[in-house]
Order: sequence, then structure tokens, then C-alpha cells
Amino acid sequence: MDRLKSLRNLFLRAGQRKRRDEVVAFSPQVPVPVCPECGGSGFTLLVVPFGHQDFGQAHPCRCVLKAVLERYLNHLPPLTFEGFEANAVNCVAYGAALAMAEGRHERPWLILAGQPGVGKTHLAVAVLRVRAEAGQMGRFEVVPDMLAWLRAGIGQEISAEERLESLKRCPLLVLDDLGKEKGTEWAEQIIYQLLDYRYRYRLDTVVTINGSLSAFPDAVRDRLLDNHLCRVVMIEGTSYRSGMSYGGK
Ligand SMILES: Nc1ncnc2c1ncn2[C@@H]1O[C@H](COP(=O)(O)OP(=O)(O)OP(=O)(O)O)[C@@H](O)[C@H]1O
Ligand SMILES: [Mg+2]
Ligand SMILES: [Zn+2]
Repeated sequence: MDRLKSLRNLFLRAGQRKRRDEVVAFSPQVPVPVCPECGGSGFTLLVVPFGHQDFGQAHPCRCVLKAVLERYLNHLPPLTFEGFEANAVNCVAYGAALAMAEGRHERPWLILAGQPGVGKTHLAVAVLRVRAEAGQMGRFEVVPDMLAWLRAGIGQEISAEERLESLKRCPLLVLDDLGKEKGTEWAEQIIYQLLDYRYRYRLDTVVTINGSLSAFPDAVRDRLLDNHLCRVVMIEGTSYRSGMSYGGK
């Protein structure tokens, strides 16, 4: 963005471009449009009366928000509802995930449980994608990786507490593979804090679980089984990857 801005200024100074909304060409082949709203600065001032709390405050321009959203979508796995084959064993989960994606869900938590390869992660990511298309950015967190990221924050500039806070407050959180983490006391405490916060504030959360709820500590299991808050959907069937059936729960 800075490079874009300084190049645009060069052109303006040289008198080659007179208007802010004209296209600046870095090379004859690749014209790069300058945002007409912010002129490439990335910020805009809201038009509000003097004395308003936002008077004189810079806000990220729409073009920046759009770029952030695009980057977020590019980092999500390419799993969509369109690419999901609904059938007799997964159609309830498909319907519940679609309702969540479209904001028609009655309960803020969706728990997708089932054996490996039945499509739990696929549906959870599809929820994030639909919400992103509607402008809401959530978070996709594979629980063991999330814990490693939190642990890496200890003593860092963006601390473990700040990282956890961002996860607690995020409007839509996918916790993929809950229960796959190494069950240390620290990990258990973090997961409890995260789930308890989101439980208390009824924040939209999709959890995928490979295995049985009975393996969780009582306090976590009790929240996951709260009928007022959670919809638990078991996806039966065989693995889409291998066709294998792993039996047991
Ligand atoms: N019904 C389906 N239609 C299309 N693709 C599917 C379906 N179910 C699963 N898949 C694909 O199969 C692969 C495994 O699915 P996914 O990762 O969602 O399984 P999972 O239930 O999360 O398994 P695990 O417990 O091992 O994480 C993915 O590539 C996914 O896109
Ligand atoms: Mg998975
Ligand atoms: Zn802009």
C-alpha cells in the first residue's frame, strides 16, 4: 500500500496524473486501480458533525477491509457446502451447519461429532465461508495448533492472554478436533476458560469432535451437553477418505 501511495504521488508530482481516481500503471501490462475512496491511503474520515465521537477519526477504508476478507478466505481450506455431498447419514449435520451459516440457528453452538473422515471439518469450514461472504470473519482453529500458538505467546509482544482474549471474543469460532490436544493441566485450563467465556456470552461456536464426549473433563462435557446452548449432531457413516468404518463412539 505504501509503495502504491508513493508511486501515485510520484505520478501526481510529475503532472502525469491529475485526478486521484485515475488508474496508475506500474507497468504497461498491469494497471493497478487506486481506490477512489481513500486514494490509496487505506483510511477514510467519516463525515460526521463536529463534536461527534468519530469526528476527525481515521477508519480503515472499505478497500482495506475487502483485502483483509479476501486474504482470510484464501487462507481457509477450500471446503464449501456446494462441494459437500449430502446423503442419508450426514443430511442432519449438513442442515444444521447450513442453518448456522445462514444465521437461522436456534442454538449458538454446533457440535459435530463422528468418526474420522465423515465431513466434520468440511462442514465447519463451509460455515465460516458462508459467513465470510456475508462480511463476517470468524476463526478456524485446530485445537492442538491453537494451543501451540497460545503457548508461543507467553512473554511475547502479543501475549498469550491477548491471544486468548481474541479467541474468546471472536463472533464465530470453529474449534476443530477438540479433544485431540495433549491433555496437560495448562491445556485443560485454557480450553475451559475459552469455552466458559463463549458459553456465558452465547457466542457462535462450531466444535468438531472425533470420538466420545465422555472423554472430556466434567465441566467441559456439561457445557457441551447443554441443550439450551448446543446442538450436538453425530455424523454416522464411513470415512469419505478411505471408505473405512471405525465403529465405536
Ligand atoms: N459428504 C462429503 N462430500 C464431499 N466431500 C466430503 C464429504 N465428507 C467428507 N468429505 C471430504 O473428505 C475429506 C475428509 O473430510 P473431513 O476432513 O471433513 O473429515 P473429518 O470428519 O473432519 O475427519 P477427522 O475426524 O479425521 O478430522 C475432506 O477432503 C472432505 O472434503
Ligand atoms: Mg476434521
Ligand atoms: Zn480505499
